Amino acid sequence: MNSDPVIEVRGLSKRVTDATGELTILDGIDLSVPAGGSVAIVGASGSGKSTLLGLLAGLDSASAGSVRLLGHELTGMAEDRRAALRNGAVGFVFQSFQLMPHLSALENVALPLELQGGLSTREAFTRARALLERVGLGQRTGHYPKLLSGGEQQRVALARAFVTHPSVLFADEPTGSLDAATGHAVIDLMFELNRANGATLVLVTHDIDLARRCDTVVTIEAGRRVPNALHADGPEDANDHIEAAR
Ligand SMILES: Nc1ncnc2c1ncn2[C@@H]1O[C@H](COP(=O)(O)OP(=O)(O)OP(=O)(O)O)[C@@H](O)[C@H]1O
Ligand SMILES: [Mg+2]
Repeated sequence: MNSDPVIEVRGLSKRVTDATGELTILDGIDLSVPAGGSVAIVGASGSGKSTLLGLLAGLDSASAGSVRLLGHELTGMAEDRRAALRNGAVGFVFQSFQLMPHLSALENVALPLELQGGLSTREAFTRARALLERVGLGQRTGHYPKLLSGGEQQRVALARAFVTHPSVLFADEPTGSLDAATGHAVIDLMFELNRANGATLVLVTHDIDLARRCDTVVTIEAGRRVPNALHADGPEDANDHIEAAR
């Protein structure tokens, strides 16, 4: 297996300027994620987790520092090149789902495959349908997002992120609007992808059970990385990776 980190972040900062002046959202974040690893990003609301995830996935650009994703330096990379990298290798589940309102559940899930090309429409729909069944939505494939509950939309978003078999899956609160049983099923699905495909998982979560299942926990406090409170028996150096007891 390639031992180069899948994600390597150094001194990452994000600042924005608005009417009230300059706001530092992220400040000097360092982190490294090995291939096939799993990372939970935790922290209070407003601490900068979603901003960090967007930078790691190449959805947003940093003010300072560097992000290497799958060996590519994202800092300074043009948006079209970042988009090409994302389409090929990255799955993303947004905190707000961001499903296409005019497409059915099945069409939403098949869309990344169609954008990628390579599969016939029929094959794309077969694969999309199988994933919707896996997340318990086999009976909802023709529904439009507005006819689905929040948890159902979240599961469609997960199926859409998995459908291309990404080598890195980024998910922002993937279990946030799910009941415990459905949440566990979704977590199991993510770790199965992690094991079966060697996919690297990077998850933002408030779910302590989910965070504990990850190899590494990254705690963000007011835009900075701080030592973890979660793994009381974990390493002092927050950059060390905790071997998950599986
Ligand atoms: N483009 C922007 N302009 C101004 N402020 C922003 C911008 N993006 C994020 N912020 C601010 O940065 C902070 C971090 O936002 P972020 O969405 O990353 O938090 P979060 O940790 O994901 O919170 P939550 O757990 O509530 O989702 C917040 O105070 C937010 O208001
Ligand atoms: Mg967030």
